[in-house]
Amino acid sequence: MSTFETIIYEKEDNIAYVTLNRPHVLNVYNIRMRDELYQVLGAIKDDPEVRAAVFKGAGEKAFCAGADLSEFLTAPSPTLARQVRWERDVWGLFLSLPQPLLAALHGYVLGSGIEIALCCDIRIASEDAQFGLPEVGLGIIPAAGATQTLPRVVGRARALEMMLTDRRIGAKEALDISLVNRVVSKGELLPTAESLARQIAHFDPAVVRSIKQAVVRGLDLPLAEGLELEKRLASLVFQAKARNSFQ
Ligand code: COA
Repeated sequence: MSTFETIIYEKEDNIAYVTLNRPHVLNVYNIRMRDELYQVLGAIKDDPEVRAAVFKGAGEKAFCAGADLSEFLTAPSPTLARQVRWERDVWGLFLSLPQPLLAALHGYVLGSGIEIALCCDIRIASEDAQFGLPEVGLGIIPAAGATQTLPRVVGRARALEMMLTDRRIGAKEALDISLVNRVVSKGELLPTAESLARQIAHFDPAVVRSIKQAVVRGLDLPLAEGLELEKRLASLVFQAKARNSFQ
């Protein structure tokens, strides 16, 4: 269904499936993948048929082992790198998707791999998953959102320990610190993610999007403003229901 080089995009029964597809190099994230992901995320965002999306990695060994080190710091100039980043804010786009996103994580989930997972709303890991942020050892800081997204998910101290020491953690510890929602056997990984996506896709998409918006936007607001947001969204959902019942 897709003609991309680094990812596979499929859509079935209102669910989008995005597979990171460079298994010979552990699905590492390169410039091509960034551009293709940008296209696919834009397509998902604008597609009312898509009610949930599942992100996964091809091959046996990894969801994604981070940035492609063969392209490491190869941008022709810092100015160009910055311009490209503004033109293609793939992480901003990821975080702005209105549909619920699920990550099915196996094997190595490092650097940008964990950052992609953190852009998703629900993370399922298989027992062999290993999580880590090797950036500090490479002399860079995580720049695909992890300095902001990881502490929001696991708390400041655990996020800093992972980022400052490059400590790798396994699936069980990831579950203990709420980095993932569930750990399942490798054979159950995709069926579990798919079954959750189907449950979500079964419900009214406007209601589902409103719940995601209330939670995601609300987390960045003071409680009183979050409650106002919830009230506004609840009222919009209620009005839409009332309109539909009169038609
Ligand atoms: N960039 C480019 N290629 C990578 C890569 C990366 N980040 N990580 C792995 N690869 C390639 C390897 O070069 C190898 O290619 P080859 O078969 O052509 O030699 C292939 O993927 C398999 O990796 P390999 O190292 O043989 O697998 P392994 O199971 O022994 O080790 C890791 C797996 C993840 C521990 C190891 O590959 C690693 O430490 N990778 C770097 C992780 C990293 O620092 N990511 C950047 C985060 S910002």
